[in-house]
Amino acid sequence: MTTLVVGANGSTGTWLIKELLSIGHDVKAIVRPSSSIPEGWEKNSGLEIIRADISNISVNEMANCIKDCQAVLSCLGHNPSMKGMFGYPRKLVTETVKLICSAIQLNAPGFPFKFVLMNTAGNSNRDLQESISSAQKFVVGLIRLILPPHADNEDAADFLRLNVGQNNSRMEWVVVRPDTLINDENVTEYEVHPSPIRSAIFNPGKTSRINVGNFMAKLITENSLWNQWKGQMPVIYNKMD
Ligand SMILES: NC(=O)c1ccc[n+]([C@@H]2O[C@H](COP(=O)([O-])OP(=O)(O)OC[C@H]3O[C@@H](n4cnc5c(N)ncnc54)[C@H](OP(=O)(O)O)[C@@H]3O)[C@@H](O)[C@H]2O)c1
Repeated sequence: MTTLVVGANGSTGTWLIKELLSIGHDVKAIVRPSSSIPEGWEKNSGLEIIRADISNISVNEMANCIKDCQAVLSCLGHNPSMKGMFGYPRKLVTETVKLICSAIQLNAPGFPFKFVLMNTAGNSNRDLQESISSAQKFVVGLIRLILPPHADNEDAADFLRLNVGQNNSRMEWVVVRPDTLINDENVTEYEVHPSPIRSAIFNPGKTSRINVGNFMAKLITENSLWNQWKGQMPVIYNKMD
């Protein structure tokens, strides 16, 4: 199975690539021309590094890039710097989701292509009646106004929910929602829920990046797991002791 990863050299993307390679996937990774990559990537025969700025890739180029793939996984996100949060591209994630969806439609694969988007527990799945307190709605509304990356994450998930939808013969999707991201060196026990079980604002849980990578890799590898979550926005938390 060949899989394309975007946001590949980020803190979560790096773990995801490791997971995919360890279970025998061939992986293509899009990395910006001037960005650094982990040692050993260049020499790994299962990994093809594509040096390109995702914002400058055309639909035809993306279609060509994924024509031998069965899945795309995105760990893309705005860098936590002034430029990353408030500069351009403001809609980095949404535009990338649109680009990948257009490329899949253009290729018209004869099977449902899989797309997994890393998102956030701070975003709601508006297909479900997720219970959110008025205080949380107020704070999330402020964050949406003040922090462009949050609105970008919301719009990206909405595009999959509303424009691709649940009955697209060309592609299926899962939006993975971690809570506060932490670093861990090993996969630990984690739990996955259809909706948040705690407030992402007032009582956030923790999710290790390596567990996000593990879950995303498993999703596209294990058919039963994919069928359980396709078209949904599962929330992932580390299991507490
Ligand atoms: N922080 C949290 O607690 C939290 C919680 C839940 C969800 N999230 C979401 O999860 C995402 C991923 O988290 P992370 O910690 O793995 O992020 P990260 O380490 O910052 O990785 C972000 C990735 O996106 C790429 N990227 C950033 N700006 C880009 C641009 N303009 N063009 C092309 N690529 C670009 C980065 O590449 P470069 O190396 O080239 O910059 C990197 O590969 C976050 O951005 C956020 O949306 C975060």
